[in-house]
Amino acid sequence: MHDAAFALGFGDSAQELIIDRLPVQGKLPDWLQGTLLRNGPGTFQVGAERYRHWFDGLAMLHKFSFAGGAVSYANKFLRNNAYREARAQGRIAYSEFATDPCRSLFGRVMSVFSPQITDSAKVSLAYIAGRFLALAETPIQVEFDPQTLETAGVYQYEKNTVGQMTTVHPHFDGDMAYNLVTRYHRISHYRLYRIQDRGAPQLAAEMPVKQPAYLHSFGMSPNYAILAEFPLVVNPLALLLWLRPFIENFQWKPRRGTPFHILNRHTSAPVARIESDPFFAFHHVNAFEKGNDLFVDIVAYPDDAIISAFYLHRLAEPKNELPFGQLRRYRLPLNGRGRATYEVLSDACMELPRFDYAQYNMDGGYRYVYASSINPQQQHGFYNQLVKADIHRGEDITWFAPDCYPGEPVFVPAPDRVREDDGVILSVVLDTARGNSFLLALDAASFQEIARAEIPQPVLFGYHGDYFAG
Ligand SMILES: [Fe+2]
Repeated sequence: MHDAAFALGFGDSAQELIIDRLPVQGKLPDWLQGTLLRNGPGTFQVGAERYRHWFDGLAMLHKFSFAGGAVSYANKFLRNNAYREARAQGRIAYSEFATDPCRSLFGRVMSVFSPQITDSAKVSLAYIAGRFLALAETPIQVEFDPQTLETAGVYQYEKNTVGQMTTVHPHFDGDMAYNLVTRYHRISHYRLYRIQDRGAPQLAAEMPVKQPAYLHSFGMSPNYAILAEFPLVVNPLALLLWLRPFIENFQWKPRRGTPFHILNRHTSAPVARIESDPFFAFHHVNAFEKGNDLFVDIVAYPDDAIISAFYLHRLAEPKNELPFGQLRRYRLPLNGRGRATYEVLSDACMELPRFDYAQYNMDGGYRYVYASSINPQQQHGFYNQLVKADIHRGEDITWFAPDCYPGEPVFVPAPDRVREDDGVILSVVLDTARGNSFLLALDAASFQEIARAEIPQPVLFGYHGDYFAG
């Protein structure tokens, strides 16, 4: 990608700020009364050391609060062990997705059971069972105060019992939260957990697995949990020995295909295994049931090359281009007869997909998917536009501005809406010409800009966040 974009988006830490009122160009809707919380890497540099991959780094929270057409901003590092030791020692002390701390030969004795696995919960966030949690792919979730962004405590379930890795994309059915956990053991398991109120996680379903796959999300329909088992798999022994960083223990084995495992989330019974050709994905979008079929919408890649493409040394190459994510709808016959088939729902490159989850989760009537995208005419080696896909009509509209790199688009419905897309899209955009970031508000229906609010510094390329009304 361009040098300026790489230096700003994958750079060093910015200052922690509290700004009561950002300058706003345009007009934010008066009904926008709430807070956009975002999570992501706060720095890719610790002392003289650099992290190796986009999914590494120390967690930083960002907060945009809206009231009466005005917006405030604050950002803060999570004060967890990975942060404290990085600051105290001036070096990377904890293992991340694709970075391990430098260790002597004797220091290599570690594993997924090791306390040196990161607590830098930087990937996403959610309100689960009465807590605001920063989420990591390890079961170490960090509670924070949504007003001050102060770290409130580490919330860790019993990893050797529950599992060692989890998706960062829990699903919600009313106030019940579900998540998929992988337990590496002599006999490993995929485990579906549910949690409600402040209770302990309860096992909803599980299935044994010899070589667990890397799973970043899962699908959920009214009756089922859907586990697309991509053929990027690990021998659990490799994680026990831990000779290389976490993700580099996984191998792409396309001859396995990508079977879909369907679990009944009410009765815990495995329902079906449905074969499909191999593909890889980070993100499920939505899933629903219709007749005897289950439909699973997912942003798919032909293989796992997208993971390698996110290494920083690759992103720094001026001519590196990312593989395009493709929004597919898989049709799974629930009678177990026949393979999965799919149709392509959009021609646009997509990643970090969002839709109106509160209204349309598990509902096949939904029409719009919003995502970060790459402009095919002006590829800059990273996501440089937003797309709105109308999956009923197969049409896309985009928002693009020169030198700008927009992050995950979050849909906020208007309070009196009639149409699905009455509302705004919020996205944090890095403007590499001006050297800083701004919060972008688009009219979700027209996809036209209605307002932007500049931050006096860049925000590193982040991952996920959410909007909380009130
Ligand atoms: Fe994700």
